Amino acid sequence: MDNKKLLELLNKQYNFEIESAYIYKAMSLWAAKENWPGVANFLHQQALEEMFHASKLQNYLLDIDYDVKLTSIAEPKAEYSSLKEVFTEALEHEKQVTSNFMEIMKEAKEVSDYQTEIQAQWFLTEQVEEEATFNDLILTLERINDSAAGLFQFDAQLAQRSFSKPQA
Ligand code: FEO
Repeated sequence: MDNKKLLELLNKQYNFEIESAYIYKAMSLWAAKENWPGVANFLHQQALEEMFHASKLQNYLLDIDYDVKLTSIAEPKAEYSSLKEVFTEALEHEKQVTSNFMEIMKEAKEVSDYQTEIQAQWFLTEQVEEEATFNDLILTLERINDSAAGLFQFDAQLAQRSFSKPQA
């Protein structure tokens, strides 16, 4: 595959996945500082999942002999006013990821690059789940409406998450 624009989009997304991990790691550190260990765990697991996404893109780029490049990452936001703000920003971030893969898919279709299309398809399927997860968490927080018992249970539930590498 030698489509320059498509290769650059893939390399950019590879870096964006690593940036995603960095952002979730910063959110996790904030949650730990605020005494939400379950939320901190959930966001740490999310960061691991983002690094898996980055590795999947990296492997694809290496397999097609692309010279993968790491670019600089901006310092992530470290302070949040509430759990709802964290998950709302996470959802917005995931929507950006989805939009990026749609652009990759569009370009791959335009140049009839079926192999990249298959890669983009895997990520777009994954994004349905990613957006749904954060959406559900925001809805749960809205229902809890700052009840102490509800937030305690919410945190306990998020403590259960453990990232395991999905079938690629
Ligand atoms: Fe790798 Fe959350 O998208």
